[in-house]
Amino acid sequence: MKESQRPLGSGFTAVSTADGVIAGVDLRGRNVVITGGHAGIGLEVTRALARSGASLTTVSRDPDRAEQALAGVTKVEADRPDLLDPALLDTFAARWLATGRPLHLLINNAGLQHPGNGPWTPAGTRCSSRPITSATSS
Ligand SMILES: NC(=O)c1ccc[n+]([C@@H]2O[C@H](COP(=O)([O-])OP(=O)(O)OC[C@H]3O[C@@H](n4cnc5c(N)ncnc54)[C@H](OP(=O)(O)O)[C@@H]3O)[C@@H](O)[C@H]2O)c1
Repeated sequence: MKESQRPLGSGFTAVSTADGVIAGVDLRGRNVVITGGHAGIGLEVTRALARSGASLTTVSRDPDRAEQALAGVTKVEADRPDLLDPALLDTFAARWLATGRPLHLLINNAGLQHPGNGPWTPAGTRCSSRPITSATSS
């Protein structure tokens, strides 16, 4: 199926910044999970959401790197599943559910830059260059 791209009419453009998009939005009391929130685009999004008052959980495979990158960002915690491992993802989800916190916003930012043939996952699927939204086969 083919579908042509068309503008959303959001008023934002390729040069819009995270802070510009979120200006005037109050996210106090909102819980956000962001994958790859410690690096690249994800880090900028994490910072902007934190400035708007959100409570953030970043999904980061390397806790030391995440801790360094997120130093000074308030109301953020790092969890560490590898998104390509369904068992670790299930553990992460169970930990989240056990807290009883509602999840208001899930940002599937983490991604791979392997055009064509990405790595094989433990679930036997193969990744390409795009955000990782699910590693499970179910
Ligand atoms: N930059 C661009 O021009 C561009 C253009 C189009 C789309 N995108 C998409 O935008 C997103 C962010 O891009 P970026 O440039 O900010 O990328 P980046 O700097 O390479 O950051 C990617 C993030 O994804 C995480 N990640 C990758 N595989 C993971 C896994 N298996 N489990 C957990 N985390 C994983 C990385 O964690 P580690 O630090 O542990 O590796 C890192 O934090 C990606 O989905 C990318 O495909 C980017």
